[in-house]
Amino acid sequence: MGPVAAGVQDRLGAILAICRKMNSERDLASLLDVVAREATSLLDCDRASIFLLDRERNELWSKVALGSSEILRFDARRGVVGSTVMSGRTANVCNVYDDSRFYHAIDGQTGYRTRNVLAVAMRNQRGEIIGAFEALNKNSGDFTPRDEESLEALASHAAISIETAQLIGELRRSQNELVEQNAHLFREVENRYAAHGIIASGPRLEQVARLIERIRDSLVNVLVTGESGTGKEMVAKAIHYASSRARKRFVALNCAALPDTLLESELFGIEKGVATGVTSRIGHFETADGGTLFLDEIGDLSLTAQAKILRVLQERTLERVGGRTPIPVDVRLLAATNKDLDAEIARGHFREDLYYRIKVIHIHMPPLREVPEEIPLLARHFLKEYCRETGCPPMELSQAVIRRLSAASWPGNVRQLRNEVMRLAACASGPVIGEQDLWEGLPSPSAPPPAAAAPAAPRSPATGQSLKSAIGELEMRMIQQALAETRNNQQQAARLLGLSRQGLINKMKRYRIAG
Ligand SMILES: Nc1ncnc2c1ncn2[C@@H]1O[C@H](COP(=O)(O)OP(=O)(O)OP(=O)(O)O)[C@@H](O)[C@H]1O
Ligand SMILES: [Mg+2]
Repeated sequence: MGPVAAGVQDRLGAILAICRKMNSERDLASLLDVVAREATSLLDCDRASIFLLDRERNELWSKVALGSSEILRFDARRGVVGSTVMSGRTANVCNVYDDSRFYHAIDGQTGYRTRNVLAVAMRNQRGEIIGAFEALNKNSGDFTPRDEESLEALASHAAISIETAQLIGELRRSQNELVEQNAHLFREVENRYAAHGIIASGPRLEQVARLIERIRDSLVNVLVTGESGTGKEMVAKAIHYASSRARKRFVALNCAALPDTLLESELFGIEKGVATGVTSRIGHFETADGGTLFLDEIGDLSLTAQAKILRVLQERTLERVGGRTPIPVDVRLLAATNKDLDAEIARGHFREDLYYRIKVIHIHMPPLREVPEEIPLLARHFLKEYCRETGCPPMELSQAVIRRLSAASWPGNVRQLRNEVMRLAACASGPVIGEQDLWEGLPSPSAPPPAAAAPAAPRSPATGQSLKSAIGELEMRMIQQALAETRNNQQQAARLLGLSRQGLINKMKRYRIAG
């Protein structure tokens, strides 16, 4: 082998050794250092730098020096490096001060004196230019065509390693973000649904909160009943997050929202190829493995679906639709309904054996009209929640508003109260919400419960009664009601009725209402 061939062989060997080093470096900053250091000794020059293209800003950036964290940035069209990045062509400039492309400002900025430059473009696997590799000041003489070849070979390998390191860096950053977000969300739900997060000031709801605390370590199935909006799902979540399963999934499925045909695959999953185009998918039972499955509106399940759920509860295994292998599952079942399941059993619509399986513990959520003592605390809690979530300064509810809210009938229960408080807060003109902010259609105290379904319209006047006397009767009733609600405070009663105080007194005299 002649001396030239031996020299080529040496270079190739050195480049291969550098590639091995590059491939084992995953951190971008260290990789840039390794590549620059190795290139300097390979080309026998004073410095080597890698410039990466920031496409968004159309700038090139590089570390000022080896090991430094200081970054140099400039317009991607400037300098010898810039022209290489733009054209993709290698530039070998023997005397930079004779070359119009040379960008003097960089030497000025770094305090370095450049004599000659070799710059080659770096391309990723798709052939896109991602930056340039630059060698400065050959130790003796100028950069040779062999140096050009060596730097081009090195650059093509370095580009791939750099892109990989950038991707890994991005993945690490987004993974860290996700881990942090997840921990944050967990703390949020834990706070929100911890058993003591249930707002309770009276004995009936306090009993529910205490029961959740008591059963936190047992994994019995629980049935929660109650009208719509009474907090059934909130209780189910509180039970899950208070239990030893809190770090596993809470999966909720509304049984009424799905037709029977879909329900089975939603619950148990489906195997590939059951029908044309069907891909395999796991069901809610499997998703909740180790955690809790909440079946809302369980009273709406068909008898077939009930039988299948019962089998899973008894055998602790399930089979996907179209599957033959039993899959073990460990799921705690919580269920809710606003139907009377005893009556459903009597009508043959609900299986008694399933009923006893799911209601090892039964929690009944009272309608809000039965526990009006809860309203003041709940209302203040929702107002605080509104202020916290919207970031607005703290607000208060006036005593009169609290009284009016407590006297209303709330057919939509706690959910309706929450919505009303949120609406009041959003529309409030000052930090104290007063009666003037109240919704006129607030369910009136005399309105019958929704089960009775009678509209709360004013009594219709008897036939034959004149319009004038009917209006008089209505006026009299409204005044009496306003006075009762305000405990005979004429000022407040007048405001409720939209009258001046004197106007109210006149009408009281006319209708002989005692003050
Ligand atoms: N005691 C309570 N303390 C705090 N928030 C409550 C309480 N009871 C109910 N809520 C709130 O009221 C809203 C309605 O509750 P939830 O969705 O649990 O009712 P539900 O009984 O499941 O209603 P539906 O039958 O319509 O599904 C939720 O925003 C819930 O957080
Ligand atoms: Mg619900």
